[in-house]
Amino acid sequence: MTPEQFRRHGHEVVDWIADYWTRIGTFPVRSQVSPGDVRASLPAAAPEHGEGFDAILADLDRVVLPGVTHWQHPGFFGYFPANTSGPSVLGDLVSAGLGVQGMSWVTSPAATELEQQVMDWLADLLGLPESFRSTGTGGGVVQDSSSGANLVALLAALHRRSGGATVRQGVEPERATVYVSSETHSSMEKAVRIAGLGTDAVRIVEVDGDLGMNPGALAARLERDVARGYRPVLVCATVGTTSTTAVDPLAAIGLICQKHGAWLHVDAAYAGVSAVAPELRELQAGVEWADSYTTDAHKWLLTGFDATLFWVADRAALTGALAILPDYLRNAATDAGAVVDFRDWQIPLGRRFRALKLWFVVRWYGAEGLRAHIRSHVALAQELAGWADADERFDVVAPHPLSLVCLRPRWPEGVDADVATMTLLERLNDGGEVFLTHTTVRREPVLRVAVGSPATTREHVERVWALLTEGHDWLAADFAAQAAEQAAARAAERARAEETPAADTPA
Ligand SMILES: Cc1ncc(COP(=O)(O)O)c(C=O)c1O
Repeated sequence: MTPEQFRRHGHEVVDWIADYWTRIGTFPVRSQVSPGDVRASLPAAAPEHGEGFDAILADLDRVVLPGVTHWQHPGFFGYFPANTSGPSVLGDLVSAGLGVQGMSWVTSPAATELEQQVMDWLADLLGLPESFRSTGTGGGVVQDSSSGANLVALLAALHRRSGGATVRQGVEPERATVYVSSETHSSMEKAVRIAGLGTDAVRIVEVDGDLGMNPGALAARLERDVARGYRPVLVCATVGTTSTTAVDPLAAIGLICQKHGAWLHVDAAYAGVSAVAPELRELQAGVEWADSYTTDAHKWLLTGFDATLFWVADRAALTGALAILPDYLRNAATDAGAVVDFRDWQIPLGRRFRALKLWFVVRWYGAEGLRAHIRSHVALAQELAGWADADERFDVVAPHPLSLVCLRPRWPEGVDADVATMTLLERLNDGGEVFLTHTTVRREPVLRVAVGSPATTREHVERVWALLTEGHDWLAADFAAQAAEQAAARAAERARAEETPAADTPA
């Protein structure tokens, strides 16, 4: 493709994306295809001869769109959001156009230095501790995911705990322990497995009524493990758990970690970016105790996947665990110790110029725009929670400090509540106007309404609430009628059994 052809088709692609965003509300939020449908509409083999760009674009509509669940749809309330935005897409396009591989400073100094600067800006914008700045002992780096960030945090913690011995001797699975709560994201356990510790190293600490980690229980577990000869490596505290956005109390947990020399990793994958709004920072009071911290700009900060913001307070622990310098990567800047090489801060060697899209986003919206984005969703979620609180058909089952509201529908006597709740969810999602997901709280299914798509307005939240209440009324009547029929059938059966004399009853 020549630059001129690229210019022409590039404009067509940008038009296509802009048109998609304009008409996104007309699609069913959740893809309606069945397994195998997308593959069945593709040829069995790759084309022998290159095709025209028109044919490729046409297949976006014919093949791809029907198989897409529209995460940017204003009716998308599932999981956590996966934001994107114009400046993010354009920044990514520039990154793709430059085609830079930014593994070392020398392979493109701008890739490293822009990332350092943007991460320092973001640490400021989120009110994170001084220790996380590149100007101090720590620094920030863009990772591919919070799952990846949880893994590198654990590797750094293992390195520090062993005084560097893991680099040569590996880990001590029979001694090392890692502390999570029952609400911690599964990626932490995955990290423990990948690190070679095995799931047995994981200690699951009890949670309080608000589903945040109980610090007393953590302290007791650590004491017991230390007394038995275990070596606590890392405590993972979550700000904004995946199920309900519960918050582990960082200040209390930080003190306990310090006492035992355990690394405090804060997983704020979804909720961390909310700290652009100063009034929401209270949720992470005590974050200054953290040795590392992760939050995803690709969830709720208008930046497309992947853009995990990861900071460490002591970068030496991280690079100590991950740096290897083979001859073929040597260069004068690295040898002089004058630069940061981000390949030593992550699992893969190669890395994209991801800071560009963050830079575009932060500059386009400014701190003010980012705050407005977060605040609008938090306000909408609080309104929704207020409507549900005031309505006898629903219970709000967990604290909702941010933009996720967890609802348990109430059902009439005799109705199987779990089945009815999941039926309501399916009914809503089949309808195509909105998309929600569920979780389990205290062993019961609940509906999660995660406000966070950039296009979502009050009107869409009103609509999801209307659909929830209408769906509830319809199903409650239907299930109650079924329950009544079944009860009547059982009563009739009993009556018949009482009327018919049993065979062995003497006449
Ligand atoms: C608390 C928490 N940690 C980690 C993750 C994993 O995030 P990622 O998809 O960036 O790996 C999630 C995903 O929702 C999460 O909620």
